[in-house]
Amino acid sequence: MDYEIRPVTVEEYPKFARTVGAVFGETVSDEEIGEWLKATDLTRTVAVFDQDDIVGTTDSIAFQFTVPGLQTLPAAGVTAVTVLPTHRRQGLLTTMMRYQLEDVRKRGEPLAILLASESIIYGRFGYGLATTQGTYQIDPRFAALSTHPEQHGRLRMIDKASAAQILPDVYDRYRLLQPGAVSRTGSWWERHLSDPPRHHHGAGERYYVTYRNTSGEVTGYASYRIKENWEHGFPQNRLILTQLIATDPESRTALWRFCLGVDLVVMVEAENFPVEEPLRWMLKDPRRLRLVDSGDFLWVRLVDIAAGLAGRRYATEGQVVFEVEDAFCRENSGRYVLEGGPDGATCGRTNAAADITLRAADLGATYLGGVGFTTLARAGRVTEQTPGALRGADAMFACEPQAWCCTGF
Ligand SMILES: CC(C)(COP(=O)(O)OP(=O)(O)OC[C@H]1O[C@@H](n2cnc3c(N)ncnc32)[C@H](O)[C@@H]1OP(=O)(O)O)[C@@H](O)C(=O)NCCC(=O)NCCS
Repeated sequence: MDYEIRPVTVEEYPKFARTVGAVFGETVSDEEIGEWLKATDLTRTVAVFDQDDIVGTTDSIAFQFTVPGLQTLPAAGVTAVTVLPTHRRQGLLTTMMRYQLEDVRKRGEPLAILLASESIIYGRFGYGLATTQGTYQIDPRFAALSTHPEQHGRLRMIDKASAAQILPDVYDRYRLLQPGAVSRTGSWWERHLSDPPRHHHGAGERYYVTYRNTSGEVTGYASYRIKENWEHGFPQNRLILTQLIATDPESRTALWRFCLGVDLVVMVEAENFPVEEPLRWMLKDPRRLRLVDSGDFLWVRLVDIAAGLAGRRYATEGQVVFEVEDAFCRENSGRYVLEGGPDGATCGRTNAAADITLRAADLGATYLGGVGFTTLARAGRVTEQTPGALRGADAMFACEPQAWCCTGF
């Protein structure tokens, strides 16, 4: 059967949104569709039409993406990927991925990134598992801090209206310091702060607390919910920390101290935090911080390999020739010479002999330094052609601080 594939018009958008809602099992109200529409660049939507029905969808967000070396690159944030159950496993997703990657290439965005509902889906399209996130729990009675950077600033709980004024600017300063972070638009903040009850998962509304340093600048914030519970007259509340954004150690310490000190709370749970969360090393009793869950977060695909590799900075000076096999975007396959260091990098096609051979998804996985080439070689995914090349590439691609993204999309 012939299907049409193209972006949707504004009139078709509600149908597009309802297909997304139906596949994820979410009832989407007209009001929400209106909010989604405000946040959508319709030219970036991709829909598969079976006659008048929209049976497949995807969309992408034009992000500014912080890459190692604290450079920012345009990246397409792939989202709203669905195929109706009536049309699954007929190759519709494959067709949409091809269409979308071509569109991203034409827009001159060297990278595509996404969050995967299932980790089996995107490797075949050249996306690699690039960052890992953790969920932590700690009983605040055992959470005394051993580090005490001077904190003479002020903590304040703020309402939603103030949060809308203050937080976007703090986040914007923070994201330029954090590899793996993405830009957030005004409509992202609007949707985030609207905080509809169906996002509460049995807890209360989100609270916001800011830290303002002695110069009067807000240098960090935390947002959290309380899941209230009383048993036999004793408080058993859980504090669900949804975000802790700190632009320096002083605000990080102040905000953690705040979150670990809220009364009536017997458990603090931090969702989607970096695996190398500094809190562990701030605690007197570090084992008390339990990593209760961890999993993949960002998946990265190099759409333009040379521009992507030249666009980041490298921890050490070095040169490496990669032979990349890109089975999904065959025109990308070939040899690339990367020369890079802390101050800049160049990358282009070459005929020189390869030092390392790998597939596109593996280059995506290593791009943010989230996994080493040596680890992928031990996993049988990457091959070293020149002795020492894997270690050299690991040293170059290392990233500090660890790449991490705290924005869902
Ligand atoms: C994921 C989804 C979009 C796949 O769509 P689709 O049109 O069925 O995918 P395709 O037919 O193009 O599949 C291409 C290949 O991927 C495999 N594949 C796709 N989705 C898969 C899944 N969820 N689990 C296992 N394999 C999957 C197919 O079996 C096929 O493999 P093959 O090439 O070896 O035959 C669809 O199942 C869906 O809407 N799922 C629910 C929503 C969701 O999870 N979306 C992703 C959000 S990040």
